[in-house]
Amino acid sequence: MRLISLALKNFRQHADTKLEFRAGLTGIIGPNGAGKTTILEAIAWAVYGASAVRGTKDTLRFNRAAGRSAVRAELEFELRGERYRVERTPRNAELYRVEQGEPIAAGINEVTRQLTRRLGMTRQEFFNTYFTGQKELQFLAAMGPTERARFLSQVLGYERLRAAQSMAREQRKVLKGQVDELRRTLGDAEEIKQAKEAAETRLKESHAALRDTEHRQTNAATRLAELEPAWNELQTARERDRQIHEELRVAQARLERVMKEQKEAETELASLAEAGQQLSTLRSEVRPLEELREGEEQLRHLAEAESRRVRLGKLLADQRDRVDALAKKVAEQEEKGRARGEIAERLVAQEEECERVEARREEVTTHWERDKEDARANLRILRGQAEELKTQIEQLKSQGPEGACPTCKRPLGSEYDQVLHLVSGQYEEVVQDGKWHHKRLDQLESEPEDVIAVREQLSKAREERERLKGKLAAADSAISQAEALRSELGVEEEEARSMAGELAALPEGYDAERHATVRAELEHLREIEKRVTRLETRLERQPAVRSAKAKAEEEERQIRAQSDALEQGRLELGFSEGTYRSVAAEYEEARAALEGARLELERVRGEAEAARHAADAARQAEKEFRQISQSITERQREHRLHNELDEALGDLRHELNDRVRPELSEIASVFLAELTDGRYNQIEINRDFDVVVLDAGEEKPVISGGEEDLTNLVLRLAVSQMIADRAGQTLSLLIFDEVFGGLDEQRRENVVRLLQRLQDHFEQVILITHIESIREGMDQVTRVTFDERTGMSLVRDESPGATSKSLLSEDLTTLVSN
Ligand SMILES: Nc1ncnc2c1ncn2[C@@H]1O[C@H](COP(=O)(O)OP(=O)(O)OP(=O)(O)O)[C@@H](O)[C@H]1O
Ligand SMILES: [Mg+2]
Repeated sequence: MRLISLALKNFRQHADTKLEFRAGLTGIIGPNGAGKTTILEAIAWAVYGASAVRGTKDTLRFNRAAGRSAVRAELEFELRGERYRVERTPRNAELYRVEQGEPIAAGINEVTRQLTRRLGMTRQEFFNTYFTGQKELQFLAAMGPTERARFLSQVLGYERLRAAQSMAREQRKVLKGQVDELRRTLGDAEEIKQAKEAAETRLKESHAALRDTEHRQTNAATRLAELEPAWNELQTARERDRQIHEELRVAQARLERVMKEQKEAETELASLAEAGQQLSTLRSEVRPLEELREGEEQLRHLAEAESRRVRLGKLLADQRDRVDALAKKVAEQEEKGRARGEIAERLVAQEEECERVEARREEVTTHWERDKEDARANLRILRGQAEELKTQIEQLKSQGPEGACPTCKRPLGSEYDQVLHLVSGQYEEVVQDGKWHHKRLDQLESEPEDVIAVREQLSKAREERERLKGKLAAADSAISQAEALRSELGVEEEEARSMAGELAALPEGYDAERHATVRAELEHLREIEKRVTRLETRLERQPAVRSAKAKAEEEERQIRAQSDALEQGRLELGFSEGTYRSVAAEYEEARAALEGARLELERVRGEAEAARHAADAARQAEKEFRQISQSITERQREHRLHNELDEALGDLRHELNDRVRPELSEIASVFLAELTDGRYNQIEINRDFDVVVLDAGEEKPVISGGEEDLTNLVLRLAVSQMIADRAGQTLSLLIFDEVFGGLDEQRRENVVRLLQRLQDHFEQVILITHIESIREGMDQVTRVTFDERTGMSLVRDESPGATSKSLLSEDLTTLVSN
């Protein structure tokens, strides 16, 4: 297979990518996540469809694609000299031969099927042939022998044998478990047999008992049926006899009640006749009652007037006393009011007197205060003078005749005594004056007599003024009281006049003695009148009592006739309690026998049912025993079969592995010779799938990293070659995706150099990597970058000599600028 071109639309982040593949060593270089591996995935998708890619149908579409934009891949390639083009979308696929216009296959499944057939490999084989996945080279070297053998048998397709073997083992285990479980539930054959025999015997016995009891029940039922008619008849007769007896008892009770009613009616009628006679006597007695009532009414009116007169007379006398007292009070108040004018004049004069005395008191008090102030001032001056003179004397005495004169300041000399005498005399005088003024001040401290006299005069004048004010207020109050009392007096006088008028209008001539006589007579007749009313009420019942009596007599006749008929009926029925009892005992005995038989039958039936169940269960247990035994035998046979299958598959796997190793060794030896220019030409893959290089038939230990990389690559290529050979293909294409893994720079160079050497052998070698430095030594370089702004992968050809034209189509440029 040789790749020619790939065009992608909205395939993951490849919104619009076009790529051409040429012969030689091509490097696809770009940072992590740029979309390099996605290009490989797109190739696989174009050939094998959805099962060849990571994720789901939904994650396939460019996540920023507009609206319903289509996902699409177009791959052109050459196979055995023919050029093909496959076009695929998630819903459809078409396969063309490039020189023909019409598709040679259409539809997702059909295209995949055709390509699988033409390539001669499954999807898995395709991957294992052309692609070497990320880190796969070292990954193989790092595996242990078992894992490595497993990996190789997986890529070569033998792993399906292992899967089949493990399924066989699994099934064998399940079968063993089932056999053990069945054995546990199987039970003991002898026990099951004995239980079945016992159950059969029990069933037979219970059937015999059932027949016997059914016979007894039939006999008892026949006897009961024979007794039934006589028994029923007797019961009806007894019921009827009881009924007649009850009816007679009721008739007797009614008869007694009716007889009693008749008697009561007769007694009441006799007493009513007597009452009628009494009534006519009493009616003549009460005839004068009306007239007497009228007379008593008039007397009552006169009595009321008389008592009103007495009460009113007393009230009028009181009223007149009240009027007199009021008139007297009015006169008193008027008298008091008359002195008001004179009192007012006196009050004015007294107020003037008060003002006058007040002025006088002001005057004498001011005079006294002034005297006191003068005396205090004189005393202060004299004290100052005395102080000064005393100092001078002391000065003179201390300085003696040498001292200076206190007044003229000249030396005293001989005048000392004279000056001292003079000054001492002045001092004495001042002291005497001071004493006098002191005494005077003491006198002035107590109030002088004229001040006391004027103060007392003022107090009296004020007292008099207050007294007059009180008198004036009293006179004013008397005047207003007199007015109020006068209006009250008018009202009371009017009341007295009205009372006198009423008194004069009251009728006269009341006779108390006669009134008492009339009232006693009236009381007597009223009692009689009440009796008359009572008798009349009683007599109203007379017709009702008469008709009740007649009704009771009629009823008596009817009851007697009914009783006679009932007695007659009873005689005709001829029921005997003795006969009834003996038949009842016989019937009860037969019924009990039947009931006993029925209960026994029920019990026996239950037993028969239980026995049947027990027999069924025993038969079932026997059947199950047979079935389980058979299942065990079958599963044991199957178990043996799976055992053999497991062994056969194991042997086959080993044999295939043994056959594969020499074949792989041979192919690897050819690659080894090619890659080492014949320096080494023999490689051996031992039982552990370790690769051993032979140098002139001798085992050469692999020691350097370079040699390790070489052997890993040789082994991986041998595997690819082997699959391609089996598919009848020439292996012309190799794709390595990030195979460097953790290799250092030196070893990366080794691998690149080895890959360069492969060019002669393989037409197309594609190396995908994020390592920039390997671009040296590539025939072509394709750069893949990721554009953050648009979220798309950008792919450009950076091969030496290529124009730096972007491989982006014009459509995409338009899309991005949007
Ligand atoms: N439907 C999609 N639309 C857009 N981007 C997607 C979609 N599906 C996956 N991706 C992005 O694709 C990127 C992975 O791409 P890919 O595996 O091709 O990268 P790579 O270049 O091989 O990186 P590395 O060097 O790490 O292997 C991820 O960043 C993922 O987010
Ligand atoms: Mg990748």
